[in-house]
Amino acid sequence: MSGPVLLFDSGVGGLSVAHALRQHYPHLAMCYASDNAWLPYGLRDDVMLSGRIVSVCKAAVDACQASVLVVACNTASTLALEGLRATLDIPVVGTVPAIKPAALSSQTRHIGLLATTATVNRSYTQTLIDSFASDCVVTKVAVDALVTEAEAWLSGAAINDQRLNLALTPLWQATQATPALDTVVLGCTHFPLLKTELIRLSPVPLVWVDSGDAIARRVGQVAPTLANSSQDGRCFTTAPASQLTKGFARFGFHSPQRLTIPNAV
Ligand code: DGL
Repeated sequence: MSGPVLLFDSGVGGLSVAHALRQHYPHLAMCYASDNAWLPYGLRDDVMLSGRIVSVCKAAVDACQASVLVVACNTASTLALEGLRATLDIPVVGTVPAIKPAALSSQTRHIGLLATTATVNRSYTQTLIDSFASDCVVTKVAVDALVTEAEAWLSGAAINDQRLNLALTPLWQATQATPALDTVVLGCTHFPLLKTELIRLSPVPLVWVDSGDAIARRVGQVAPTLANSSQDGRCFTTAPASQLTKGFARFGFHSPQRLTIPNAV
């Protein structure tokens, strides 16, 4: 028996990655940690945030004796992967915007990136664009409102079409541009949770690309047989989250427990 795979996010976004992992490996033992006390990460100062991410991940890895950490958050991965790998002695798998597969799929050579304000502005993201989509028009849209919407949806609230459409206006406009946008990168793990609604609201059919499958493949390389952990299904949050208990259960996780973080910033 070995430790589980730990998924970490600022909130419930990592559940979209948990879903992708379960599709590939139905018996994989997984735990979940959410730093909901600091949500949303996308509007936080980088220096404070990178220290915080390392402290929370270290505490969560220790709490569930994880064998692998999946940073199921683009905002955290594009900032703190190096610090995490230097601190933890287990494999760390990151989540970064799926620019490469989107560029490979686009026929019109105009792709969109939906992400948090932080991810949209990160040099890491620009490097991905320069490396894999230099021949594409890339419309970057910061949609932090969708993070709030996905959190509310998981706690049982109805989707607010008006709020979604308002946040997505620049994306919908790009579908009418020349060349027309035809492919969208969901560069925040919260957004695949809203994919059905995004497809429903889009004025034209689009290709929606996320990082779930790529992460699942990578986890399969670093953790080929991680099942039967007594820690399986444990869920940690840094602030009360009883409104999310049912939502976590839908993705196979137990009621959230409070995570204690030594020396938290
Ligand atoms: N789910 C996180 C991501 O993939 C971001 C949410 C937040 O802003 O906290 O970027």
